[in-house]
Amino acid sequence: MTLAPSARLAVLASGRGSNLAALLEAFPGQVAVVISNKRDAPALERARAAGIEALHVPWPPGGARDFEAAVETLLSSRQVTLVLLAGFMRLLSPGFTRAWHGRILNIHPSLLPAFPGLHAHAQALNAGAAFTGCSVHFVDAGCDTGEVILQKRVPVQAGDTEETLSRRLLPAEHEAYPQAVRLVLRGLAFPRPQPGEIEAEFGVNVAADAQGVRAARLLRDWGREDAVADALEGHLTPLTSLARSTDELRLAWTTLDSLSERRARWEKRGELLVQAETLGLGAHCARALAVTADEWDTTTY
Ligand code: GAR
Repeated sequence: MTLAPSARLAVLASGRGSNLAALLEAFPGQVAVVISNKRDAPALERARAAGIEALHVPWPPGGARDFEAAVETLLSSRQVTLVLLAGFMRLLSPGFTRAWHGRILNIHPSLLPAFPGLHAHAQALNAGAAFTGCSVHFVDAGCDTGEVILQKRVPVQAGDTEETLSRRLLPAEHEAYPQAVRLVLRGLAFPRPQPGEIEAEFGVNVAADAQGVRAARLLRDWGREDAVADALEGHLTPLTSLARSTDELRLAWTTLDSLSERRARWEKRGELLVQAETLGLGAHCARALAVTADEWDTTTY
């Protein structure tokens, strides 16, 4: 299942709303509604100040059911297709997260799977970690257990407190969340594909990984249906290698390697384009790389 790049978004927030602000700036006109379980959440004020519908939906004592039913009604009436948790400090039920599988994201202030749950900065400090960071991930029924889409790393410094560490990390969060959302809206990030989904899309019943699916989609877009099954099955032919390398390069900025290493890899894209040219796919490959080239401008972590 893919989302439209212009998909309507909802943000669920319980507090300050700085990630909400980053999302509002990155997706002007796309956030349809902001919902908080806290009546006095500054996030609601931020949304109203930006002219966005901002609603308090109480979290009843003892369970998520009434909250989720009210939110479902709001999301469907506002035609929302992607839900973004931004400092939303409640655990949604398995029924809700299953219904929104692949269409609900969260940001968490650690390099998951390390330090899930509450007080992530304190957990990193107590563990003596040299680095911490943030993770944007798909939400599943667990607490911060869903598949990671994008992570950013920041150093922990001597003498750091929860406050200094969280202040250092926050700009990385504000960069990461919009980037991860763009990946999802462009169909470049998605939960691990199930064989049934792959069969529905490509007519081949295999268990491919995300890179295999993206490579298969590239080949299909390039008019090379003949190589799609090989890409899904992980067979390396010149065409499938090209598709995999193109995919790796366009997502190179999303890895946790150092920024200089990521940029160095990107700078070598000429070699890939030459290889693509020899296979008659130079223009296609260049277009695929251009899809994420603009993300480099905003990648500082
Ligand atoms: C952010 O640091 C976010 O990562 C964290 O809450 C903060 C919200 O700040 N979320 C979690 O800890 C979720 N487990 P914000 O309201 O300014 O965006």
